[in-house]
Amino acid sequence: MLNIPVYKPFLCDLEEKYVNECIKSNWISSRGKFISKFEESFSNYLGIKHSTTVSNGTVALHLALHTLGIGPNDEVILPTLTYVATANSVAYVGAKPVFVDSDRDTWNINPEKIISKITKNTKAILVVHLYGNPCSMDKIMEICEKYKLLLIEDSAESFGSKYKGVYMGNFGNISTFSFFGNKTITTGEGGMVSSSNKELVNRVAYLKSQAVSKEKEYWHDELGFNYRMTNICSAIGLAQLEKADIILQKKQKISMWYQKFLKDFDITFQKSEKDCVNSFWMVSILMKNEKDRDNIREYLKARGVETRPLFTPMHTMGTFKSNETFPIAESLAAKGLNLPSYPDLKEEDIFSISEVIKKYFESI
Ligand SMILES: Cc1ncc(COP(=O)(O)O)c(C=O)c1O
Repeated sequence: MLNIPVYKPFLCDLEEKYVNECIKSNWISSRGKFISKFEESFSNYLGIKHSTTVSNGTVALHLALHTLGIGPNDEVILPTLTYVATANSVAYVGAKPVFVDSDRDTWNINPEKIISKITKNTKAILVVHLYGNPCSMDKIMEICEKYKLLLIEDSAESFGSKYKGVYMGNFGNISTFSFFGNKTITTGEGGMVSSSNKELVNRVAYLKSQAVSKEKEYWHDELGFNYRMTNICSAIGLAQLEKADIILQKKQKISMWYQKFLKDFDITFQKSEKDCVNSFWMVSILMKNEKDRDNIREYLKARGVETRPLFTPMHTMGTFKSNETFPIAESLAAKGLNLPSYPDLKEEDIFSISEVIKKYFESI
C-alpha cells in the first residue's frame, strides 16, 4: 500500500538553522532581520522591484485591492474557477466580483470573455494563474490598457512560473503570493505583496501594521490592519528561497514523469500557451466525466494515493452563488483532479502512482 499525500513542504536543515536563530535571538515576532532579507531576496529572485511580507495570501489580496482604492460601487473581473480567497478579497473591500468563464485548455480566465463583462463600474481585472499555469498576459494587458483597468495578479499558485521569460507577478499593477504549507515555497502561513510601484508597496507596508504613524507613537491616521508576517515565518521563507531553483526543477521533472507514464490513458493534462513556463504547483488532469473522476479518486485513495478535486466555481456556492452558468469552468471542476505534486517525489513514486492509474483503467 502506497502512502503518498497530495502535498508536503520541502524543508531541511537550513529552515531549522534560521528558525533557531530567531529563537536564540528572541526575535520571534514581526520584527527582525529575516523579514527584510526575505522581502529583498524575493524581489531579487522574481525581478520585481518592491515586496512586503504579510501573514497570508488572502490578506495579501485584501490589502492589494484596498491599497489600489477599490471599494463599494466598483466591479472587479475575475475567473469563477479559482480558490475562494480570490473572490472573498473583492467582497472584503465592498466591491462586486464579476465572474468570467475559463479557457478550455489552460483553465485560466478566458480573455475573449472578459470584454462583455466590462461596465462603467469596472475598476480592475484580477487574474489567477491556476495551479501555476500562466494566464494569457498579452491579451489581458491589452484589455486593461484599452479600458483603463487596473491589473492584479493573484500569483498565490504561480511562484516561479514564467510568461515570455518573465516571472509571474511582474505584469500586474500589484501582485500577491501565498506561502501556505502546500505552496511551491512556504513559510507555514504567509504571503507577499509585490509591485514595481514603490509608493504602493510602502502603503501596503504601512496599512499592514495598523497604519501607525512613523513620527508619533500610537497615532493612527486611518484604518489599519495587523497583517504582518513574523520573523520566524520569514526565516523559513528565506531558506526556501535559497533552494527555489531546486524546488522548481524538481517540479518540472514531476510533471514530465506524469506525462511520460500517463501518455497512453484517456486523460487530459492542463495545457500551457506558447512561451509559458508552468511551475506545476499542482499537476492536474481531467477525466472523461465527473463519475470517472470520483471513481479514480476513490480507487487511488484506497491504494494510499491522495488527490484533490479542482476548485469549485465561485458562482455555484455560498456568498457568490448566482444563476449565471459558466459551462467550461463547471465542466473542468467536475472532471478535474490534482495529482500528488510535492517537490520530493521521485520518478519511482510517479511510476507507482501511474501503475495504480493503469490498473484503474484496466478495471473499468
Ligand atoms: C489562487 C489563490 N489565491 C489566494 C490564496 C490564499 O492564500 P492563503 O491560503 O495563504 O491565504 C490561495 C491559497 O491557497 C490561492 O490558491
